[in-house]
Amino acid sequence: MGKVIVSGARPTGRQHLGNFHGALKNWVRLQADHTCYFFVADWHALTTAWAEPEDIPANTIEMVLDWLAVGLDPERCTIFQQSAVKEHAELFLVLGMLTPVPWLERNPTYKEQREQLQDRDLSTFGFLGYPVLQTADVLMYGADAVPVGIDQAPHIELAREIARRFNTTYRPLFKEPQTLLTETPKIVGTDGRKMSKSYGNAVYLTDAPEEVDRKLSRMVTDPRRARRTDPGEPNDCPAYLSFHKIYCTPDELRVVEQGCRTAGIGCLECKRIMIAHVQAELEPIRARRARLGPDDARAALAAGNERARRVAAETMARVREAIGLA
Ligand code: TRP
Ligand code: SF4
Repeated sequence: MGKVIVSGARPTGRQHLGNFHGALKNWVRLQADHTCYFFVADWHALTTAWAEPEDIPANTIEMVLDWLAVGLDPERCTIFQQSAVKEHAELFLVLGMLTPVPWLERNPTYKEQREQLQDRDLSTFGFLGYPVLQTADVLMYGADAVPVGIDQAPHIELAREIARRFNTTYRPLFKEPQTLLTETPKIVGTDGRKMSKSYGNAVYLTDAPEEVDRKLSRMVTDPRRARRTDPGEPNDCPAYLSFHKIYCTPDELRVVEQGCRTAGIGCLECKRIMIAHVQAELEPIRARRARLGPDDARAALAAGNERARRVAAETMARVREAIGLA
């Protein structure tokens, strides 16, 4: 059915609107027409959190519960846990043999993260090899396409190069996966920076309605509107750019734009318009989430792990054969 789609996410726990618009919404759409594998990249989490792995199990369950709540359906896609499919480690090892270290040192996220996460020791073999593990994740299932944000594009490019190197060294076995860029407007958090758990500026799918209301009504706007009578510019307003633009109808957008530029509307009143839409979108997710418990996440993973293992075992048999280590 359709294409093979593979994507993963590190277990960050409760999912926020950035996760939703940046990935999950798209995953839910893809599961309808394609053979999809969506997994919890817990080994990838270990590359940066190896010294404090305590939260990984609980975060895994929380994240999967939110996946189910937004409508990922274990009957229609394979939801699994990376570390439960040991073949990922085996393929990682094999691909590591043929991956030149300079390819990894050149990786922009590698350099960036090492500078940003100064508080952790990332001078490890595992962290350098992050994209090799990611390559194993996608080649394992013969992915045609990998839906990711732009920041992950270099990793998928690397996956294609590693696949090519394997194919020319032994024999053509791996498909070169395409990057399926998730075309999403960037969702910023309530403080105007990228929405992120670590910035404390996120609106979570499981936030109570009052919480969503409180967070969004305090969200930063165009600083020109210091007083109610000061006109503003929507295109300089984080709330407008991230939320109104995604959620409001064209008619509402006209009202907002005009009201903002003429000081005809106050920021709070203006934000109420988009908050109503956000609440409406979250309502069914919240309702579904309330009916789910940790056992549902565990059951989805158990079934998915089983399915993933079968495919992975076949791939690895072919890999060993291609290399001559069968
Ligand atoms: N590196 C991805 C991220 O940080 C997570 C990930 C791991 C992934 N393996 C993957 C994404 C395979 C797509 C395909 O978001
Ligand atoms: Fe933003 Fe609306 Fe305030 Fe204008 S009126 S700055 S668009 S919240």
